[in-house]
Amino acid sequence: MDDMLRADFLRYVAQTSPEPIGIEIERAQGAWLYARGGRRYLDFISGIGVANLGHAHPAVLAAIRTQAERYLHVMVYGEYVLEAQVALARRLAHLLPAGLEQVYFTNSGAEAIEGALKTARKRTGRAAFVAFDGAYHGDTTGALALAGNPAFRAPFQPLTGPVRHLPYGETDALGAIDSSVAAVVIEPVQAESGVRIPSIEFMQALRARCTQTGALLIFDEVLTGLGRTGRLFALEHFGVTPDIIVLAKALGGGLPLGAFCASQSLLAVLAHDPPLGHITTFGGHPLSCAAGLAALETLIGQGLPERAARVGDAIIERLAQQAGPGVAAIRGIGLLIGIELESAELTRSLVAKCIESGVIVNWTLNCDRVVRLAPPLTIGDKEVDFALHAIGRSLNELCAGHGR
Ligand SMILES: Cc1ncc(COP(=O)(O)O)c(C=O)c1O
Repeated sequence: MDDMLRADFLRYVAQTSPEPIGIEIERAQGAWLYARGGRRYLDFISGIGVANLGHAHPAVLAAIRTQAERYLHVMVYGEYVLEAQVALARRLAHLLPAGLEQVYFTNSGAEAIEGALKTARKRTGRAAFVAFDGAYHGDTTGALALAGNPAFRAPFQPLTGPVRHLPYGETDALGAIDSSVAAVVIEPVQAESGVRIPSIEFMQALRARCTQTGALLIFDEVLTGLGRTGRLFALEHFGVTPDIIVLAKALGGGLPLGAFCASQSLLAVLAHDPPLGHITTFGGHPLSCAAGLAALETLIGQGLPERAARVGDAIIERLAQQAGPGVAAIRGIGLLIGIELESAELTRSLVAKCIESGVIVNWTLNCDRVVRLAPPLTIGDKEVDFALHAIGRSLNELCAGHGR
């Protein structure tokens, strides 16, 4: 990296960790990031679940250009009729299960979670929320209150509450959901806790308990939505329809966009008593919606969710074959895959070695023994080979280094 630029990065841009990856990105194309100085890196995390079509997809770029020529921001969300917004909302409504036919657009995932929490409080008149151990829903104070890792909540108390945290995937614990609960917020697959996949029985019992107690069920599909798990929406794996689904990350095709979708009657609570009680200046930006619609049409047109299921299964099989000492488990669904290692040290070292070898992978926030793989859904065979060789080689070297 250019020394001066790196120094200014550290000096002028607020830092989120003591050890940023710090690769200076020149450009990105398909599954590859091109760094200054000529090195390239395979993006095996899709910019953390955003680049489901890879980077700089031509259909998305064309939609951005066309929209940019027409107009950018014109008015606070909800006032004017913006064709790109309407078209994306209509398309989502037709793709989602019945009962999720209206969309409120936001700028980000956390903001969409906040909107969903407010909707639940207003609709039910109740205060409490239920969330799960290991959960990650974003870093605004409402979303953070739901976080399943107490270490991230502790420095920022008091957060929105009360929130009860239940063990993820344990049906016996669902009795704690009662008539004081406005909403239960859950990821249908938890990524940040090390890629945890609950049973169909658990999800169906959760749906039944929410219906019984009048608590709204909110699915956070910020990461799992839009093909990542091998279905367009992860809810399809469980045969469960939530009262609200939250989307973001890949929704904007690489531009910032989030959404919470619910029935028309549920979202109507945001439009009165008082009117304009939940608004946003940039949420549902026409540029993001145009990019998002192009991305969604491409995703569906090319059958990428089905492709993610096939390619994901093949990667899991190959990882399982090559897993040796140091690897405790391999699990995943579609192209959201976790390699569980025997120690946090090994995890950190594997991530560093893979990056040195030109493959970007990362660990998960709430489980320091899992390396997460989440490549673009368009990833090619040669790129998969490249990544699996790098992972295998790195693991062999590390485990040899540990005297195994
Ligand atoms: C499951 C989940 N929910 C919510 C969020 C928050 O989204 P954002 O970073 O866009 O606020 C994330 C971000 O990683 C996420 O993975």
